[in-house]
Amino acid sequence: MGTIESKVTPAIGEACEEVRTGLCGIIIFGASGDLTRRKLLPALFNLYRRGALDDKTYILGCARTNMSDADFQEKVRTSLKEHLSSEAVEAQNSFARKCSYLPLDYQATQSYQVLTRRLDKLDQALQTGGNHLFYLATPPALYTSIAGQLGAAKLTAEKGNGHFVRIIFEKPFGRDLESALQLDQELHEHVQEHQIFRIDHYLGKDTVQNILMFRFANAVFEPIWNRQYIDHVQITVAESLGIEHRAGYYEQAGQFRDMFQNHMLQMLALMAMEPPTSFEAEPVRDERVKLLKAIRPFDLEDPKRPCVVRAQYTAGKQGDTMFAGYHQEPGVAPDSTTETLVAAKLMIDNWRWQGVPFYLRSGKRQPRKVSEVVITFKDVPHSMFEKTTSGPLEPNVLILNVQPEEGMSLSFQAKTPGPKNCMSTVSLDFKYQDYFKSPPAEAYERLLLECLVGDQTLFWRHDGVEASWALLTPVLQLWEKNPELCPLQEYPAGTWGPEAVETLMRRDQRVWRTL
Ligand code: BG6
Repeated sequence: MGTIESKVTPAIGEACEEVRTGLCGIIIFGASGDLTRRKLLPALFNLYRRGALDDKTYILGCARTNMSDADFQEKVRTSLKEHLSSEAVEAQNSFARKCSYLPLDYQATQSYQVLTRRLDKLDQALQTGGNHLFYLATPPALYTSIAGQLGAAKLTAEKGNGHFVRIIFEKPFGRDLESALQLDQELHEHVQEHQIFRIDHYLGKDTVQNILMFRFANAVFEPIWNRQYIDHVQITVAESLGIEHRAGYYEQAGQFRDMFQNHMLQMLALMAMEPPTSFEAEPVRDERVKLLKAIRPFDLEDPKRPCVVRAQYTAGKQGDTMFAGYHQEPGVAPDSTTETLVAAKLMIDNWRWQGVPFYLRSGKRQPRKVSEVVITFKDVPHSMFEKTTSGPLEPNVLILNVQPEEGMSLSFQAKTPGPKNCMSTVSLDFKYQDYFKSPPAEAYERLLLECLVGDQTLFWRHDGVEASWALLTPVLQLWEKNPELCPLQEYPAGTWGPEAVETLMRRDQRVWRTL
């Protein structure tokens, strides 16, 4: 086992200077919710502490809950203490003072009149130039009415001379092709595409972005990144968590919508897309969309050789802890058929990937949390070591670890010391933590920063969302209308899933990497 050793070169250091955002008011809808507490406030605080937020930038929380500014500031401090306990208290207090609150009925026109007056007041006092970033951390069902109300109140209009209004939408963006198209059409009545930032927090992860850096900032990998050298690719996103009191949402979504339509397909797109002409929003997003459109529609005709497996966890054990089955989770219908695990085989119809299978799996309540992309290269064309090895040579395997042990490893054959011609599989490992001495940054921090500077590279564009739903919708329809053609399987909590997940690969004479 080897470790790559080197230093960050000055050139990289120079390119990594802190970005400072312009003047802006950040308005969070859904400010009393879980996402705001767990992710948004800590991310904004980190940006503030690093000096990336302008001193005059303010945060206005909005939600239905009745709360005073002081109550909200107390919530802000509690959230920061919970998530960043070691941070300086003074910095937390001064960040909390930047935050204020306005109770708001999302569907009442009058609320938006009050909001307009509050924003005018804040903008005048802080001279922010009226730039606004609205973060919609609300149930998606409210997206069109909020956008409509903001539009009617003239809060979405950009006035020229660099003035901006941007809106961040949390996933899910639609629940199938038709609803996504309709949502887009309705939003575009009030906001333009360049103002819309559709979040997929996986794109904010350093290790996910690194897939592009790794491929396109190094000369050695791209020439072998194709059907000539790669046998197959595995993408796994497993979680040990269950649905964590989110039955209301998850019962409607399921794992296919919750993880596949977005995170899994984005990782696949980054791994497989063609090189963009530049690292800018449109060229990068063009290539991601082209790749999504090149994925072959699922073949749903042959139930004996399914290319999609769905399953739900039953009661089971993780270590010494016993976990309830999905049906016993609070808020879940006792006869629910919502899937908590999906595995699928995908093919990409283009010159680069013709004939190379991509196996994807993602599930809840699995033995441990792990997200990774595994690239298995083809066998050597001829082994001159046949007589000295007991079996076939192990292929080279490149693993891109997205989390939790962020890094990469490349396995290869090496001669073992001694007089005999023996070989072992060894690996070159790179770990973010060891090398950069700090863990990768929080995804939301990066995404908020990108939105504040107006860069859409790390966000979904409408045609990407459309392409992903176009791929998934026939499967969702099959599950709904002809469930017997793709029956819901079971797996005990704390396991990697039913046998059918293994079969998906085994029938191609391949196996999943052991986790
Ligand atoms: C979210 C899903 O988008 O991603 C959750 O809604 C899931 O169900 C989460 O748990 C996983 O994110 P991460 O960053 O912990 O891998």
